[in-house]
Amino acid sequence: MLDLEIPKKFYITTPIYYTSGRFHLGHAYTTICADVFARYYRLVGSDVFFLTGTDEHGQKVEDAANKEGILPKEFVDNLVFNAKKEWKSLDISYDSFIRTTDEKHISLIKEIASKMLKNKDLYKGKYVGYYCKDCESFFTSKDVTKDRCPLGHSVKEETEDAYFFKISKYQNWLKQYIIDNPKFLQPESKKNEIIAFIDRGLEDLCISRERVSWGITLPFDEKYTIYVWLDALFNYVSGLDGFDSENFKNFWPPDFQVMGKEIFRFHAIYWPIFLKSLNLEIPKIEFAHGWWLSEGRKMSKSFNNVVYPSEYVKEFGSDIFRYYVIREISFGEDGSFSKNNFIERINSDLVANIGNLLSRVITLASKRNQETGYLFFRDEIFVKEIENKIVNISKFYKNYELTKVVSEIFQLSSFANKYVQDNKPWELLTEDPKRFDQVIYTLLETIRILAAELSPIFTTKWKEIFEQLGLDVNNKNNLKLEFTNTLENKIVNKGNHLFKKQEKKE
Ligand code: MSP
Repeated sequence: MLDLEIPKKFYITTPIYYTSGRFHLGHAYTTICADVFARYYRLVGSDVFFLTGTDEHGQKVEDAANKEGILPKEFVDNLVFNAKKEWKSLDISYDSFIRTTDEKHISLIKEIASKMLKNKDLYKGKYVGYYCKDCESFFTSKDVTKDRCPLGHSVKEETEDAYFFKISKYQNWLKQYIIDNPKFLQPESKKNEIIAFIDRGLEDLCISRERVSWGITLPFDEKYTIYVWLDALFNYVSGLDGFDSENFKNFWPPDFQVMGKEIFRFHAIYWPIFLKSLNLEIPKIEFAHGWWLSEGRKMSKSFNNVVYPSEYVKEFGSDIFRYYVIREISFGEDGSFSKNNFIERINSDLVANIGNLLSRVITLASKRNQETGYLFFRDEIFVKEIENKIVNISKFYKNYELTKVVSEIFQLSSFANKYVQDNKPWELLTEDPKRFDQVIYTLLETIRILAAELSPIFTTKWKEIFEQLGLDVNNKNNLKLEFTNTLENKIVNKGNHLFKKQEKKE
């Protein structure tokens, strides 16, 4: 048995997305990354809980519903229906979909607000600040320049009676926690930004809203609704069904929380402080990934360059879209979506590397042992190399180095292509049939492992590979990440090319 250091349980989350419009590449990217981790850990036998959902309260939603002349709940129900359809088409395997309008979420948030008041972490004061409707956030004078928030939206100075959370009380604790737990905030560059932010001094946070009615009311002062970020962050608890649930016992704390860099601050500062106030365990890792541009520019309706995954899925299938977004950006950094690049990746990585390997090997394999299949007879030196790669891939997963995961999987495929080239099985066929059988068995088994390693990303293509190998896709044993004798006596079925070469479009 290879030691793949498999965690017993694995709890992974995406942010819950605003229900204000259609999902685009950015939302899909985070969700696909999380899905790949969830699928890998299920594959190796961990107990996985993968949570995603929608953030449905706040002024913007209320305004949008009013504009359409419908109730906010009706408005969000429609959007959630479409969101789920979108995730289905991208083959997202979430275990639970939490909505902040779910009854179980609402009651949990009220419970939390009461606890915070009881702990004396909430107090009533006066709020003077700059409110940004677009960000649904208040900003302080430090963040505002020329009546604009850090993202450039216009803000208005506002004063109101409000409840505050004592963030400042936890400032030193948080700083020390980050230092003592060097893996908590990743990547390193984003962690440094957070430390610098803390060092400038944390102010108490206003957590009540007097004039936003579409929200969860404060249980001890019903004229206020709760600030959307306090409401939203605790989806990671309500999504497990609350503190008293089996899920909470089994899965808390989250192992990996992934999000875009623009909301890292909420997850790196407020979130651990809220949890500390409630005496709950802190998540193991908060990870900020970079931002997607499209053809080198910010994605925006006005540039007409917003990438909608469904359009690509329709044309190329979900596997290729999933692969491209993971391959194209270095995990944690920014990147740009380009249609030409998309096509190029299909041709160079998929057609020329993986597709080519499968079709060569199956063609060669079908030249002998057509009735009986191949006997278990492996080439030990090559097997060792493949096993090293399997272990490397698991280490990269463990360190959340998704880019390295993908490149190692492709190296496995290149390595197998080179093995074909070096051994020239087409010559062995007549010169040394015994060696031919050994090389082919080793290659077939390597392709089986490759298909299993690809399965978290290519959620349907791996099945086509299995069919060509003569393997049952429903038998979990066939997905083992080690050399086995599963392929003994299996008859290969030559099928279609896995991927079609694509022409670049202007
Ligand atoms: N509702 C909050 C999150 C609350 S979590 C407790 C929110 N929602 S959002 O709809 O704006 O989604 C933000 C997330 O969408 C980002 O964190 C990121 O995951 C994804 N992306 C949206 N646009 C993006 C890019 N252009 N590039 C990469 N991902 C971005 O914030």
